[in-house]
Amino acid sequence: MLAVENLEVVYHQVVLVLKGVSLTVPEGGVACLLGPNGAGKTTLLRAVTGLLPIHEGRITKGEITFGKIPLGARRADEIVRLGIAQVMEGRRIFGELSVDDNLMAGAYTLSRRDARRRADRFYQRFPVLGQRRHRPAGFLSGGEQQMLAIARALMADPRLLVLDEPSLGLAPQIVADVAALIREVADSGVSVLLVEQNAAVALSLARRGYILETGRVVREGDAAELSADEDVREFYLGLGHAEAKSYREVKHYRRRKRWLS
Ligand SMILES: Nc1ncnc2c1ncn2[C@@H]1O[C@H](COP(=O)(O)OP(=O)(O)OP(=O)(O)O)[C@@H](O)[C@H]1O
Ligand SMILES: [Mg+2]
Repeated sequence: MLAVENLEVVYHQVVLVLKGVSLTVPEGGVACLLGPNGAGKTTLLRAVTGLLPIHEGRITKGEITFGKIPLGARRADEIVRLGIAQVMEGRRIFGELSVDDNLMAGAYTLSRRDARRRADRFYQRFPVLGQRRHRPAGFLSGGEQQMLAIARALMADPRLLVLDEPSLGLAPQIVADVAALIREVADSGVSVLLVEQNAAVALSLARRGYILETGRVVREGDAAELSADEDVREFYLGLGHAEAKSYREVKHYRRRKRWLS
């Protein structure tokens, strides 16, 4: 569905942030991208959704293809029309607009009637938002705002949904709700590229996982295989050494430990 090949991204002509990243998102499946702060996860999503130029970033090498279509030089709005929708970091709903206006704003590629139908279906599925549809979205709880942000992205009827840390700052119970929604989205046939710091949630949803560190993929594999991997568990599933700063370091640390014992 989505293939990123050997991607290099530079900000402000000089700062090399992605150093040859390759990944794929399977058709109708979830791929997750894990990694510490500053690894380049958001940058990769910006490259996919055409948002690099507004951040002074540029693809300097490699290729992104969606289906068979190269995305490289396309504008963000063209990419939306091709069927890629996104929820970027921090949810970005319009706080002063009503819940309903927020939803309808996500449907500018559809006819008014289709948009209305999709919005109403969403309210049936999430009555809490339905009841609040005429209230300002800023009054919603963090979890409800995240649901709304995802619903708004889905209004455009995408084939690929790109999510940047949807669980960030949410209480565990709410994280489970968001995860359930992502699962439903994938089950409905929409592919998902999920960036998460919550590795346990991400790997439970994903078919394929990638670990990004300082602009490089340092590990990739089936999500089940990554969840079972000792090194991954130790660092990303919170079973690890507080002093280790990265997956690579954990790996090194564990090797040394094995060697010493
Ligand atoms: N517009 C920009 N100009 C220059 N450097 C940038 C810009 N945006 C991001 N960077 C740098 O690129 C690197 C990767 O940033 P990015 O936001 O992609 O990381 P991330 O993996 O999403 O991190 P986080 O987990 O904190 O969201 C960081 O060093 C960051 O400072
Ligand atoms: Mg980020």
